[in-house]
Amino acid sequence: MPLPVLVLNGPNLNMLGVRQPEVYGRQTLADIEADCRARAGALGLEIDFRQTNSEAELLGWVHASRGQASAVVINPAAFTHTSIALLDALLLLDVPVIEVHLSNVHRREAFRRHSYVSQAAQGVICGFGGQSYILAIDAVASILGIAPEN
Ligand code: DQA
Repeated sequence: MPLPVLVLNGPNLNMLGVRQPEVYGRQTLADIEADCRARAGALGLEIDFRQTNSEAELLGWVHASRGQASAVVINPAAFTHTSIALLDALLLLDVPVIEVHLSNVHRREAFRRHSYVSQAAQGVICGFGGQSYILAIDAVASILGIAPEN
């Protein structure tokens, strides 16, 4: 089995379900994690799924993932638009990084249209709610050369 896929979630994503459901949907982060595990399991991939509200903790997880993950799927949440430090940390990695967002950041406020993280990402998936994560896992599988079973 390949090394685990690290799925990282930034600030306020622990509040999914109650946080602006008209924008982010009614799924909780635990629901999204369960769906990711199911999809990854069907692909023969292991998932390490985490959330933090701390930029320092997120940077630490990215640093520690070197050599320990086969890919990183990240929803950096608000750090997307603010954190050069997160970009610099992700540039340390030599595995695929997929940036995901629940909402379509391009049809929202202007400040959400710029992502520092995108410069370190192989691809960006946004606007499909929790399905954005599943599409990202499918993309990882494709990049790693793993064929879906269904
Ligand atoms: C988000 C979009 C960001 O602009 C926002 O700050 C978030 C969530 C998304 O998943 O749509 O917290 O990353």
